Amino acid sequence: MASFRLGIIASHGGSNLQAIIAATKSGELHAIPSVVISNNGGSLALSRARSEDIPAYHLSGKTHPEPEALDEAILQALVTHDVEIVVLAGHMKKLGPKTLRHFAGRILNIHPALLPKYGGQEMYGRRVHEAVLAAGERTTGVTIHLVTADYDTGPIIAQCEVPVCEGDTVDTLAERVLQREHAFYVETLQKISDGTIVLPGAMVKER
Ligand code: GAR
Repeated sequence: MASFRLGIIASHGGSNLQAIIAATKSGELHAIPSVVISNNGGSLALSRARSEDIPAYHLSGKTHPEPEALDEAILQALVTHDVEIVVLAGHMKKLGPKTLRHFAGRILNIHPALLPKYGGQEMYGRRVHEAVLAAGERTTGVTIHLVTADYDTGPIIAQCEVPVCEGDTVDTLAERVLQREHAFYVETLQKISDGTIVLPGAMVKER
């Protein structure tokens, strides 16, 4: 069983981040949350990380107006904390080319739908569930995929279905999908840890 150092990047609530932290604390997941980065200085994700004594950084266009400098700062924060796998958990921005290159094949994103449907630049958070309901889908789901330079188009690592129920609103559907995301991110990271899923850029060490 390999344990790996995680760098987690989140923009807002950080409930997926919290689920991952909880799983590492309980021993369910063999991983070490080593650094949390957010483009939102007031995010719950940063406060959750700080309350767990995980190094947490606000890095954004406000702290680094030049995109190249922001890319470098994110890369350095991840490298400084010996991150092996990067986990995007509700990160709403693109990563820069240096970070993408350094961690190629080792950056995961979670998306609240069955990609390739309901993905792309404008498709995040509630908008995804609005589109799923508007299309009359009976099934939606969760996708975990590798991050590449474009939104939501990297190779799919794992997917699971979530039912759309009669009378669902965006809120009820979003909540059902989010609950599934929490367990599914942890399950998928466990599979990476036990070797069931092998990432193309995997560099997890035996500890
Ligand atoms: C999650 O539903 C995640 O799938 C979604 O943002 C939410 C973050 O929640 N991500 C996207 O839509 C990316 N395209 P959280 O901050 O509570 O983990």
